[in-house]
Amino acid sequence: PSDRRVVFTPSGKRGAFAEGTSLLDAARRLGVDLDSVCGGRGICGRCQVDVAEGAFAKHALESREGHAGPWSPVEQRYVDKRGPLPPGRRLGCQTRICGDLVVDVPAESQVHRQIVLKRAEERVIAIDPVVRLHTVEVRQPDMSDPSSDFRRLQEALEGQWGVMGATADAAVVRTLQKALRAGGWTATVALRCDREVVAIYPGFVLAACGVAIDVGSTTIAAYLCDLATGETLASVGAMNPQIRFGEDLMSRVSYAMMNPGGDAELTDAVRRAIDALIGEAAAQAEVAREAIVELTLVGNPIMHHLALGLDPAELGGAPFALAIDGGFEVKARELGLAVAPGAYVYALPCIAGHVGADAAAVTLAEAPHESDELRLIVDVGTNAEIVYGDRRLCLAASSPTGPAFEGAQISCGQRAAPGAIERVRIDRATLEPRFKVIGCDLWSDEPGFAEATALSGVTGVCGSGIIETMAELFLAGVVSADGVLDGTLAARTARVEPVGRTFAYVLNEGPPRLLIYQTDVRAIQLAKAALYAGAKLLIERRGAPPDRITLAGAFGAQIDPVYAMALGMIPDCDLDRVTSAGNAAGTGARIALLNRAARAEIERVARAIEKVETAIEPDFQALFVAAMAIPHKTDAFPNLAR
Ligand code: FES
Repeated sequence: PSDRRVVFTPSGKRGAFAEGTSLLDAARRLGVDLDSVCGGRGICGRCQVDVAEGAFAKHALESREGHAGPWSPVEQRYVDKRGPLPPGRRLGCQTRICGDLVVDVPAESQVHRQIVLKRAEERVIAIDPVVRLHTVEVRQPDMSDPSSDFRRLQEALEGQWGVMGATADAAVVRTLQKALRAGGWTATVALRCDREVVAIYPGFVLAACGVAIDVGSTTIAAYLCDLATGETLASVGAMNPQIRFGEDLMSRVSYAMMNPGGDAELTDAVRRAIDALIGEAAAQAEVAREAIVELTLVGNPIMHHLALGLDPAELGGAPFALAIDGGFEVKARELGLAVAPGAYVYALPCIAGHVGADAAAVTLAEAPHESDELRLIVDVGTNAEIVYGDRRLCLAASSPTGPAFEGAQISCGQRAAPGAIERVRIDRATLEPRFKVIGCDLWSDEPGFAEATALSGVTGVCGSGIIETMAELFLAGVVSADGVLDGTLAARTARVEPVGRTFAYVLNEGPPRLLIYQTDVRAIQLAKAALYAGAKLLIERRGAPPDRITLAGAFGAQIDPVYAMALGMIPDCDLDRVTSAGNAAGTGARIALLNRAARAEIERVARAIEKVETAIEPDFQALFVAAMAIPHKTDAFPNLAR
């Protein structure tokens, strides 16, 4: 038979093929991005293409309305089982060339299909995970050919998928014999980096999942994703159980240092919590734990070290040496995580002793290194991790803000949870407050507020509420630029009352009675000054102000940029260009899960980032002191005036 010309769109790849060649084979020979898990058996449906006249099916049945060329029994079986194909669609593996053809590969049939991850600016990533599924038919053992099951599996991978010299570790080989026999010598293999078998499932399997884990000092989040589509099938979160060893990072490090076996206890606690979250996510998404074939992990340096079982003691003091800073791979089972037997956990690189894999993940998600604008990215947690730069150069630092922004160290502070005051306004004339509570849509002076909050009640003030209270107290003249509560106002309003030698502002008459003390104002001043000074140090290094500010993390999502700026937490910037990125660390962990090139990218970027250690920077102290005032003594905030 004569050769027929075939053009694939959208790639434009073309070639001549003998009549009867399947479209999947033609695509493979040309290097066209056309997916297949079942290897052309007409089961997976990943190879769907749109074809015009000029194609036929191997075992032609009859012409189908809306479908070019005759229909095959295999396609019929597929449609009977999985529902109809869109008009014009065919299974590429079942459709053969019988004339000159133009074949369109729709986005959902491309291996490297692109998805859009939402963030401040949308980032498009290609789905190209390190682990992919391949269905193989393995030769049965036979007395005349005494080769092993694994040898025959290797042969099948080589013959059917062109995979040379596949490997597997003992835990995976242990599952091999059963899987091959249970599937009648058809098995689906999860292959990592085109080489290592990390799981073998009997028969035909279509779903492979991955989990991205963000270990924060307060909360742990896990995202279970479909590795083929990139879709997040479940997002779950839990408190970090290490809290019982200390609220903030340094108290946990000292627990590890003071108590023999303390680091192992902390490691054990966090690993159990991660494993429980994996179980919860798998149950929610209705997938088996064994279907999880790859994981990624991010966290600040101390969380990163503890989760991986590395001693965090060195991070407790200068020179803050990390055990390892590059991307790091370890078998999931070594961390006590029950997933596919050979699955790995990839931990993203740490940038510096104080700037962790979470900041690397934020960088990956926000991509300041690809930006023409100067971007300031602030992740506020127990420490503030700051990245500043553009495609020319990025700088990173961490600032010792302490946990005040999270509500700790503040007398009426609490975590963001139902019952917490999150929004505050103070009347400039009467000094009377109004506030909004998490879990209640009403302001405190609106009718129905008391009834609406009767069940949960007001319990405290969370981070964003504290920021707004402080800024409003300043704007109302209750707190001076130096951070002093004005006691003379006690004569005018019962909202200001003396407490010892200082004064307090009564935010809620109660119950519970919530007071803002002078010490609370100081704690916020210290935290915001540390954050501001850290950012300012990096800005001075680059010699130019930011074009855009991104607030990452849960706290960044709650906080109102106007108040952050009014308080002088963040430097001046066009308010329209101050945005929240939500959990950008979690997004970065998902990108590294779904796209293998992203791992090389962030390892390269993390190494290239210039690290600035605030603790030894001579300028930091001066900047810190100058930043104590509200909003700031020496810097102008022209955008606030607008
Ligand atoms: Fe699986 Fe065509 S390759 S259905």
